[in-house]
Amino acid sequence: MSPAPRAPARVGILGAGTVGAALVRLLARHPELAVTAVLVRDPARPRDLGPRPPRLTTDPDEAIDGADIVVELLGGVSWPTALMARAAERGARLVTANKAALAEAWPTWRPWVEAGRVGFEAAVMAGTPAIGPLTGALRGSRMRSLEAVLNGTCAYLIGEMERGVAFEAALAEAQRLGYAEADPSLDVDGWDAAHKVAIVARMTVAPDLAWTDVLPHVRGVRGLTPAGVRAERTAGRRMRLVAYVEPDGAGGWRVGVEPRAVASDHPLAFLADGRNALVYRGDAVGEVWIAGPGAGADVTASAVLADVLQAARGEPGPRPAWAVASPLDASPAIPGTATPPPA
Ligand code: NAP
Ligand code: HSE
Repeated sequence: MSPAPRAPARVGILGAGTVGAALVRLLARHPELAVTAVLVRDPARPRDLGPRPPRLTTDPDEAIDGADIVVELLGGVSWPTALMARAAERGARLVTANKAALAEAWPTWRPWVEAGRVGFEAAVMAGTPAIGPLTGALRGSRMRSLEAVLNGTCAYLIGEMERGVAFEAALAEAQRLGYAEADPSLDVDGWDAAHKVAIVARMTVAPDLAWTDVLPHVRGVRGLTPAGVRAERTAGRRMRLVAYVEPDGAGGWRVGVEPRAVASDHPLAFLADGRNALVYRGDAVGEVWIAGPGAGADVTASAVLADVLQAARGEPGPRPAWAVASPLDASPAIPGTATPPPA
């Protein structure tokens, strides 16, 4: 006798903007996943939701209730965190691309993350894997330092300024490409990269890092000009908005973001416009580079979908490299999916 077919895992989605709509389109390829409902602000707004458009709602509970997995793609900090708390209370697995919420509301998210209940690969470098390698293959080494370009909007802006394009014109194009945050000052003032590097630091070496520890060390790209960026290039350097996790000289870590002119043989110098890159330096492994697209609708939805598939299989989400000895989440298995592996 063949086994009874599994019921599809139920996925509630909060947000169908740039990333949420792309996720809905990709989900059409996955009949094993059924969308409960999608929370939006304005259901009448035209949007491309592909061949299996789900029900849109303005009531968060319609998306959360009965969902095995809740995906948050709203943006913001307090309200999305409160909605995810509601989803967690109801036993759902959580997936988010929201680095602002993870960075600024870490005390709320931390227990869920440590329990392996949250997928958030998309929050750092979008579809290019970063959280997975940092909490997986690289945890056999002790991190010495990390430098990264984590904001696609600023990477694009700097590339355009090297070609002589004015700041405002380059930003408008980054917005059109779907790279920029709804509030682009988060990008250009360095906050988005700071959100991401705070997450990276906590998942690798600094679990107790407070958001207020990062704030004094954040500078964005507003002070850059096409002339200044081009002058660095003429001098054999490339301007980059660099997010860093570095020893502070007192046994701790300094975590921040600032424009740096990197030498032409620095790994971050080779980056194509708009892309992200991360340079990890570990005691045993040495220097490891990870690079790829770090923003945009499909690029981000690709990582969100991967996290949804992982949750639907009952596999735990990434857990901090320093917490590998703690027990796995004891929450019940998702109906219709595999039993979580033993700790
Ligand atoms: P977005 O285009 O602004 O979409 C936000 C969605 O949330 C929209 O569907 C909007 O509804 C909905 N929403 C906002 N406020 C709401 C409210 N009060 N009630 C109900 N629905 C509400 O944002 P996005 O670019 O998709 O980004 C989503 C998240 O992914 C953010 O946390 C962002 O930082 C993160 N992220 C984005 C990228 C990227 O490349 N864009 C990459 C990585 C991570 P309407 O559609 O009706 O307005
Ligand atoms: N606004 C972000 C960026 C989106 O430009 O990198 C990806 O997180």
